Amino acid sequence: MSARTTLAPDWLEPPADANALPPGVWPTGAARDDEGVVRVGGVSVAELREEFGTPLYVIDEDDVRAHARRTLEAFRTAAGRHGTQVRVYYAGKALLTTEVVRWVAEEGLAVDVCTGGELAVALAAGADPARLGFHGNNKSVAELERAVDIGIGSIVLDSEIELERLAAIVQRTGGTQTVLLRVNSGVHAETHDFLATAHEDQKFGFTLQDAPAIAARVREIEGLTLAGLHCHIGSQIFGTAGFQESAARIVELHAELLAGGDLSVLNLGGGFGIAYTSADAPTPIEDLASGIVEAVARECEVRGIEVPALAFEPGRAIVGQAGVTLYEVGTTKSVDLDDDATRLYVSVDGGMSDNARPALYGAEFSARLVSRSSDAAPTLVRVVGKHCESGDIVVDAEYLPGDIGPGDLLAVPATGAYCFSLASNYNYVPRPPIVALREGTARVIVRGETIDDLLARDAGVGATLFSKETA
Ligand SMILES: Cc1ncc(COP(=O)(O)O)c(C=O)c1O
Repeated sequence: MSARTTLAPDWLEPPADANALPPGVWPTGAARDDEGVVRVGGVSVAELREEFGTPLYVIDEDDVRAHARRTLEAFRTAAGRHGTQVRVYYAGKALLTTEVVRWVAEEGLAVDVCTGGELAVALAAGADPARLGFHGNNKSVAELERAVDIGIGSIVLDSEIELERLAAIVQRTGGTQTVLLRVNSGVHAETHDFLATAHEDQKFGFTLQDAPAIAARVREIEGLTLAGLHCHIGSQIFGTAGFQESAARIVELHAELLAGGDLSVLNLGGGFGIAYTSADAPTPIEDLASGIVEAVARECEVRGIEVPALAFEPGRAIVGQAGVTLYEVGTTKSVDLDDDATRLYVSVDGGMSDNARPALYGAEFSARLVSRSSDAAPTLVRVVGKHCESGDIVVDAEYLPGDIGPGDLLAVPATGAYCFSLASNYNYVPRPPIVALREGTARVIVRGETIDDLLARDAGVGATLFSKETA
């Protein structure tokens, strides 16, 4: 077995053409021009580097809008088949800027937020408060007051303490508030598989056992309206089985709670998976939507209840594939390993500060040399960042042309979700701008940070340093 094969993970095959852009991973329509330079959203990456520098988050607005429309249509069609309605919230935590809020709202999606900061962004975008949902396991009194005050559409209750906080607010202000109860169905899916247990050991929501008493307490409080249950089982889920198992458990509880009063909605969260590499084969959203809605309808039929209005909260599935991060290669280094193998490290000018997902949970990404095409033989590389952590890995394993070197532009696709959101200033690296592409034009929707931005927060700047000679 060759050294190259030994180092590659099982799922990664040497590509027939290391210049090809795997469909489903890249924004729709991304392609190389006659010079071999990749164009995304009709704009050349070389021009993007020239105008905005690197690292650079690039988001294809048309692609985000298309994913939003397709997702909404998929759930509407599925719900319509069972005589019910659906609302699709965009889960803002995936990528939240005022522009993104406007794009998804214009395509008919509501928006969910999970902190006062996210709420502020949605409001700054002009979102209709009645079409906002508010999550979070530790919302402060100030956050709850603000949400009630602006007339937020729904608050997803996560604990008894929060319920009492909200009760005190509506009683004090004479306000009213629609709420859902977040329930932990005991089904958890974080990867492509799911796990179903009686009790899930995590911080979100009420257990199935506790929910009836909490619902009864909500119904006692004047000013609060219990709209229904909410459940989110995890992220990057490829199949319907986990959702179906969860739906069975949640619909049983929904039916039980109907005995105590009306419930208008059942929110089954988000978590629909996308392709990060060519080895990923996510279920098309139409199949997921019909599989989940069918499961809910079946469970309702068994219990002789009406199918409630439904709600879903996709984040990654709306923005993930529309994003690409551009980096410039700074150095390459061939490192000899024990068993006569060598690994080519390719260092780029960003890293874990703009994409924490590989370091945070071992997420896999892919990469391509995008400033030129190359006939050089594909070589297994590890793309790493510029941070002082050996775990600062952007792409753990990828085949790139063996002549990749300093000055080349490298792009990592499928970075639209949870990359900007999770960005940090580790090692005082300024966070990159976000550039949106539409109909062949590029514009900054979030400006990049400068070193001055970072220094502006340091209260000691300008103070005098009295150094002491010690040697
Ligand atoms: C409550 C809730 N809803 C929706 C989402 C969105 O998940 P995804 O981006 O995987 O669709 C999340 C993600 O963590 C979540 O916690």
